[in-house]
Amino acid sequence: MKILLTGKNGQLGQALQTRLRGLDGLGDGLVEVLAVDRTQMDLSNPESCRAVMQSFQPNLVINAAAYTAVDKAEQEEALAFAVNAEAPKVLAEEAVKLGAALIHYSTDYVFDGSKQGAWTEEDVPHPLSVYGRSKLAGEQAITATGVPHFIFRTSWVYSLVGQNFLLTMLRLAKDRKELSIVADQHGAPTWTHTIADATVRVIQQLQQQGKLTEQIQKSGGIYHLVAGEQTTWFGFAQSIFAHPSVLNKPQLHAITTEQYPLPAPRPKNSVLSTKKFQQQFFVLPSWQQALKDCQEDL
Ligand SMILES: NC(=O)c1ccc[n+]([C@@H]2O[C@H](COP(=O)([O-])OP(=O)(O)OC[C@H]3O[C@@H](n4cnc5c(N)ncnc54)[C@H](OP(=O)(O)O)[C@@H]3O)[C@@H](O)[C@H]2O)c1
Repeated sequence: MKILLTGKNGQLGQALQTRLRGLDGLGDGLVEVLAVDRTQMDLSNPESCRAVMQSFQPNLVINAAAYTAVDKAEQEEALAFAVNAEAPKVLAEEAVKLGAALIHYSTDYVFDGSKQGAWTEEDVPHPLSVYGRSKLAGEQAITATGVPHFIFRTSWVYSLVGQNFLLTMLRLAKDRKELSIVADQHGAPTWTHTIADATVRVIQQLQQQGKLTEQIQKSGGIYHLVAGEQTTWFGFAQSIFAHPSVLNKPQLHAITTEQYPLPAPRPKNSVLSTKKFQQQFFVLPSWQQALKDCQEDL
């Protein structure tokens, strides 16, 4: 079993590297993981993607790399589409040639946020931003190749590395006594460990049922993979500062999206239904439990 992991230094890439190390009980127990960064495989360069795929010849590609600068993407549309749409297409095409499968990650930002209630996999995407459009184009390109795949849509990703809301809150609280936080966007903060753990458990579960590629062909597709329950950015901030390990506890003020304008519009309702995932695989932890576990690691 040869697994190619892209984006190894990203927040999800790091969690996947750690979790994949613990992968055992697969087939004959032999798992080889090649984790690459942008110097080894540049997703803005299709030739670079093809070269790595052809030389390593993986059975499974896990694409944790992405152009994730949501606001900057409004000015860098070509680059966002190259990394988020064209590269996944090339990885999928090369995987088809090798008889391999692809696991890819997408985002709540493929939706416009207008729905009352949680978004399901059947809902029609309508992204508001360049980033969202580029991620949707990636989903569509993968699906069109016919490669056995999972596209896991996730949301509000955080960890103890990289750039994310949790670390931003902790950094800002060092110098500020008051923080204004958006309270009218709804979603599920999702710890990278939740995503990495779920990814590996799905691989293990399917591997036990037969040849992995065939099993992914059978049960693959788009799945929403986020922590259970929902909150707002304001609610997320409140929980972060409620943890006993956090010493600087600023006063929090709830504000509206309009009071915190950003270049890329965000969906008001980012809540993704995980019913499909939980029926097919297993129950996901609540965001509160995952945040607690993450902060225990601080
Ligand atoms: N972050 C979120 O809140 C969020 C929400 C929903 C969905 N997602 C999705 O979840 C997945 C993982 O995101 P993440 O939060 O782990 O992102 P991240 O921390 O920004 O990591 C992205 C990784 O992609 C790499 N990358 C970017 N451009 C590249 C290129 N041209 N060639 C090769 N590698 C490149 C980056 O490399 P460098 O380290 O060299 O920059 C980085 O390692 C992505 O598919 C993302 O769209 C994220």
